[in-house]
Amino acid sequence: MPRVVLVTGASSGIGAATARRFAEMSRTELVLVARREARLEALAREIGGATVIAADLTAPESPSHIAAFVEERHGRLDVLVNNAGAGWGGRFAEAGWANVARTMDLNFNAQVRLTEALLPLLRRSAPSSIVNVASTAGRVARAGAGAYAASKFALCGWTDALHHEERSHGVHVGLVLPGFVPTEGFPAEEIRHHPIWRWFIGSDRGVAEAIVDCAVHRRAERYSPRYYGLAAVVGAAAPGLVRAVLDRTS
Ligand SMILES: NC(=O)c1ccc[n+]([C@@H]2O[C@H](COP(=O)([O-])OP(=O)(O)OC[C@H]3O[C@@H](n4cnc5c(N)ncnc54)[C@H](OP(=O)(O)O)[C@@H]3O)[C@@H](O)[C@H]2O)c1
Repeated sequence: MPRVVLVTGASSGIGAATARRFAEMSRTELVLVARREARLEALAREIGGATVIAADLTAPESPSHIAAFVEERHGRLDVLVNNAGAGWGGRFAEAGWANVARTMDLNFNAQVRLTEALLPLLRRSAPSSIVNVASTAGRVARAGAGAYAASKFALCGWTDALHHEERSHGVHVGLVLPGFVPTEGFPAEEIRHHPIWRWFIGSDRGVAEAIVDCAVHRRAERYSPRYYGLAAVVGAAAPGLVRAVLDRTS
C-alpha cells in the first residue's frame, strides 16, 4: 500500500522542500495544498505526479473540501504536514489586534481545523502521523513578532497535548521548530547580512529532513538546525538571561 502524504504550504519554501523530500521515498503519493495552483502543478510535474488541491486554508469550507477530496482520491492518509504559515511583523501598539487575529487565523486556527477534518481518516489509516511546523518563536518571543510568537506558542501547546491524546489511536503527533531559513515569506535579509546571526541560518532541505524524521521515525520534536534547541533550553532554565539579551536587541 502506498504512503499518502499531505503537505500544506507546498507552493514554496519549506513545504515545497518537504514534498520533494517525500517524493524521493519509494511508494509515496503526495497531496499538495496551497493557494497558488500553478506552482503546485509545476511541482507535481517535477516530482513525477501528485494530487493538487488549490485552497485558502483560512476559508471556512476548505478543511471539509480537502478531507472529502483526499478520501475520494486516496482513501487513506498516512502523514499530514501542517506547514502553511506566514509572519506579519509589527509591534502591538502599531499593528494591534487585527495583526494578531489574521496571524492566529492562518498559523493556528487553520492547522487545528484541517487536523479536525482529517483526524478520522488518519485514525483509520493508523499507524499514521501529524507533523506541525511551528518555529523557535514558539518557545522564545522577540519584540516586533508578538502575533507570530503567540500563534506558534499556541501551536506548540496544542501539539504537545494532541501528542498525548492520539498516542492510543496510533496517530503520532510531532512538532518541528525551524530557526531562520531564508524563503519567500521569510527572506531574513537582515539576518543574512548580520556579522553574527548569519551563522545561524538553516535550510529548507534541513527542515524537510526534520519533518520526515518526525513523520517516519516518529520523533516527538525536532529543531532545525538542531542547535536552536539550546535557545529553548536556556529560555526555560534561565529566562532572565534570555530576557536581558533580547532587551538589548529590541
Ligand atoms: N522560513 C523561516 O525562517 C521559518 C522559521 C520558522 C518557522 N517557519 C514556518 O515554516 C512554515 C513554512 O514557511 P516558509 O518559510 O516555507 O514560508 P513560505 O515560503 O512563504 O511558504 C508559506 C506557504 O504557506 C502557504 N500559504 C500561505 N497562506 C496560505 C493560505 N491562506 N492558505 C493556504 N496556504 C497558504 C503559501 O502558499 P500560497 O501563497 O500559494 O497559498 C506557501 O506555500 C510556516 O509555518 C512558517 O511559520 C519558517
